[in-house]
Amino acid sequence: MVAVHPHHNPPPGVGAAHQAEQPKKLPPPVSTAPLGIYAKPSPIARAHASGSPAAVALGSDVPVPQRLRKAFDDFVADKDPVVDAEDLRTLQAIVLRSAQSLFTNQFDNDGDLKARIAEKQKAYGDPPAWLDDHVFGNRDMLTKQQDCLNFILRTFQRREEQDNLLRAAALQKLGEIGRRRDLRAIMPYVRKGTAADLYHGLNAVKQIANRRGSPQERGGLEHDPEIGPLLAKPALSDEEKTRVIEAVLQRGTITEMEKLKGGSNYNEVYFVTFKETVPRPDGKREAIRGVFKPERTWVDKDRAYFSREVAAYEFDRSFARTGLVPPTVEAVISMNGGHELGSLQYLIPRSTPLGYRVIDHGGERWEYHSQHLPLLETPELKAQLAKLRTVLFVLSDPDKVQCNVKSQPNLGNLLVDDQKKLWMIDNSYSMGAAPQVDAGILPKKSEPEVLEAIESADPAVVVDALDDYVSPKDAKDVAQRMKRAIEELRKRPILS
Ligand SMILES: Nc1ncnc2c1ncn2[C@@H]1O[C@H](COP(=O)(O)OP(=O)(O)OP(=O)(O)O)[C@@H](O)[C@H]1O
Ligand SMILES: [Mg+2]
Repeated sequence: MVAVHPHHNPPPGVGAAHQAEQPKKLPPPVSTAPLGIYAKPSPIARAHASGSPAAVALGSDVPVPQRLRKAFDDFVADKDPVVDAEDLRTLQAIVLRSAQSLFTNQFDNDGDLKARIAEKQKAYGDPPAWLDDHVFGNRDMLTKQQDCLNFILRTFQRREEQDNLLRAAALQKLGEIGRRRDLRAIMPYVRKGTAADLYHGLNAVKQIANRRGSPQERGGLEHDPEIGPLLAKPALSDEEKTRVIEAVLQRGTITEMEKLKGGSNYNEVYFVTFKETVPRPDGKREAIRGVFKPERTWVDKDRAYFSREVAAYEFDRSFARTGLVPPTVEAVISMNGGHELGSLQYLIPRSTPLGYRVIDHGGERWEYHSQHLPLLETPELKAQLAKLRTVLFVLSDPDKVQCNVKSQPNLGNLLVDDQKKLWMIDNSYSMGAAPQVDAGILPKKSEPEVLEAIESADPAVVVDALDDYVSPKDAKDVAQRMKRAIEELRKRPILS
């Protein structure tokens, strides 16, 4: 983790086609809203919340039992404590040993977990038994079980066989007995874990949500001190509109859900309608709508998609600042008699794809919709396309314009709205989930606003922001490509 600097420009507003001069005011942090219990605040939010650093371990002057107790409590409470390596090993040994006896296999359903724990125990010593009572205090049996599994997820993080198998068993068991707050320990693995983490974590999240209700409390936004007044306003600035949309996606009341028919088989797409409304350009009000894509797993799928949709928005919101990505959040939604976890993106009203697919002679090609052809010649759209290409390179997203990875553009993933603004959707096939794009995708002329934005972004902060959603390697690759884009674009003529 690195120190996070606040950004001094607000995120571009939804609908801000051509940005006016940036006001100096700091954008409202996402964390001021009570996010879902699992949601991570954005880097901006974390910069604001400077008063709550990671929990500090107690010093060596404090007796061992107290130190271990505090560390255990802090791990389970999501405080990300910094703990002395020896204390950590002792604690892990205690937790493995305790879990081994807490899960008794009475119903023949703890066998896998116990076997995985036994494997791991071989590498650990046997600390004095009297320490156990100090660590667990007066927790009841079920709480001990839950907290041990939670702790196991927090501290056995390696991407190697033994840890993978132990986590898979712990995730399965938490699916059976976990609490809503255990989602905080589970979610990082769903977002950016191994294929097995994704599979078992996703199941655990759904089972917990089915038992306890969605972790995302929805409704009541009209009483929210910040969002309530905005919902009542007859007109909103772009920035205000973005705030409202983010909050509604996270906590708005869903009135309708409709499945998109057709589309590719990989992704189910649902259109969600909210009770909350925003003013249209003509002043009339319209319900906010969203596009929900439940996360699915299949053979060979090794990375989550929903977290990439959210990461693309975060990257643009906080760093590239093009306004091309519609607001996108994580959501657990109650549907089909159960719950689904996925990405929920603002549905751009009155938008049409830039083009359509034509299948002929067994191949496919893409044609622009004729009504958009004149638009393509305008300087406004050329600037937006140059920004788009810059972002596509940095995120390594081959799924929109023709590039080294795909010989055809996917013009269905580029939308144009009635304000002649361009939007990029379907942003999950990126950041390592797809083959790497090369610099050929960058615009021939450099667009100064996006260049300036990425020049002023600190690569370390970019990594810190994105590795909430994608693996450390995928996050570093984004920062690396951002540097590369800056180098390349500086050499190119400026788009005027
Ligand atoms: N944010 C959005 N605003 C408006 N319409 C959207 C949005 N996201 C998706 N759609 C609509 O839903 C359709 C399917 O969405 P999307 O392209 O994201 O999913 P997909 O099933 O993965 O598509 P593909 O066929 O490209 O694999 C889009 O073609 C578009 O019509
Ligand atoms: Mg698509």
